[in-house]
Amino acid sequence: MALLQSIPGINGTAEVQEGAFAVPAELTVERGGFDPWCLSAFASRLAEKGFAPLVFKDGGAALRLRRDGAYAPEAYTLEVERAGISLTASGERGIIQGLTSLFERLAGREIPCCRLSDRPRYGHRGFMLDCSRHFFESAEIERILEEMALVKLNIFHWHLSDDQGWRIESRAFPKLHAGGPRYTQEEIRRIVAFARDRGIEVIPEIDLPGHTTALLSVYPELSCREEPVSPVTGGGIFPIILCAGKERVYEFLFTLLDEIADLFDSPLIHLGGDEAPKTEWEQCEHCKAALKRLGLEDFEDLQGHFTARLAEHLAGKGKKVRCWNDILKSRVLPGNMDIQYWVEWDASGGLESYFDRGGGVVFSDMFSLYFDYPASFSSLQKVFRYEPAIGGRSRAASPNTAGVEACLWTERVPTAAALERAIFPRLFALAETAWAGPGDYRDFEDRLRLKLETLKTRGVSFTPLEQCNPEGEARLAEIARFWKEFQASSGGIELAVPPETMAEMSKAMARGFNLPELPL
Ligand code: ACM
Ligand code: ZN
Repeated sequence: MALLQSIPGINGTAEVQEGAFAVPAELTVERGGFDPWCLSAFASRLAEKGFAPLVFKDGGAALRLRRDGAYAPEAYTLEVERAGISLTASGERGIIQGLTSLFERLAGREIPCCRLSDRPRYGHRGFMLDCSRHFFESAEIERILEEMALVKLNIFHWHLSDDQGWRIESRAFPKLHAGGPRYTQEEIRRIVAFARDRGIEVIPEIDLPGHTTALLSVYPELSCREEPVSPVTGGGIFPIILCAGKERVYEFLFTLLDEIADLFDSPLIHLGGDEAPKTEWEQCEHCKAALKRLGLEDFEDLQGHFTARLAEHLAGKGKKVRCWNDILKSRVLPGNMDIQYWVEWDASGGLESYFDRGGGVVFSDMFSLYFDYPASFSSLQKVFRYEPAIGGRSRAASPNTAGVEACLWTERVPTAAALERAIFPRLFALAETAWAGPGDYRDFEDRLRLKLETLKTRGVSFTPLEQCNPEGEARLAEIARFWKEFQASSGGIELAVPPETMAEMSKAMARGFNLPELPL
């Protein structure tokens, strides 16, 4: 029976009962005061299976929604009986998760009787997609969002700017995307609504002050030297970044971020902050003057100050900021900020003390949750067993752990099919651990086999299960192939990172990925 075979598993109680509810051609629904948008994804999935549109009814409906304010966000109870179905939650997001469970149990035109009481392990269950290095059409974004929703992932972190391209329409600064593909403001709004209907919040990321070659190639006056900046295509860390000492940079960013903030209903904006080399700032009269005027100790603090000014501005629009953990190298931090963990190599002290002081962290450990690395680096089992940790100590159960998020950087992901193969089925292992917590891997694989059958029917690409946990020769061959491609696609790492840092990074990567050696 389909009841206990879904992904993610039930994080609570599940009872299977005799019999089934026969879904009528026209399903009646008592909304119980919930907003109709929370039923729209469920309705369109039923429509795809040949059912008629839902019919809302005040009494005597087959599917009854009930509100109970005592339920945690996204928690729900679903009772399927022969005579009808009732679904209880505190808000629309809980209803959406319950309807997803209901839909996942539909077998033919029946839903087996059951009683499920379910809630997520983590409030943040995310996926980040880099749409700068390669651009993916909005139909593909919606396809990914639908697959995320079916496994109860609830955050889409959209990396919309980087060195290689600016991907979000700005009416204030249209030069940002002149000639390149980008999402129009209408597309953004449509995707945000599509995601919301599936219980997914969209968090935009505008990476600042580094990873801004695309921006500076059209607005070089925002750099320290104000000299022409060449666009880049290869991956890497590039030395020319936004100047933090000129007032015009802040004015530009306030206008730009205002425009972006209005397109998204998430209370968060991700401001990146990773991999921002300070070589330009160290030579810049404006940056040096700012450092002195503000009484800051070093240029990392200047990055903290830069981010804090943007954060303060965004607070005026009711937005909080998130930054990659690199920002913790600064002693100056915004008040309204939380952190996305990706690597500890030079921020581990700052990260531990930030966390222990009560700062919120989303965990995206690159050694487990960066899906641009192939299965030989980050196997399906490794993702399944991932537990948030800092300094080798588990932080899985801390209230400061907001949740987990997988990331896909797309320097080497040129097509939608390659994107799907990189994330599926590892995204399902992430969904499993994020919603239900660690469990029995073999049992997960059994459920996964069924899941992959349904993916096939929707034409979604994925890495075959037998290639998801490579070992021995197969693993070594894949690793060698990957490094060759990695080096061929990297344009600017050596440029910006001193040799001793490169050597440290190499060692940390070999350790983190458990690799025999590293040709960096
Ligand atoms: C990152 O991978 N640079 C956040
Ligand atoms: Zn400067």
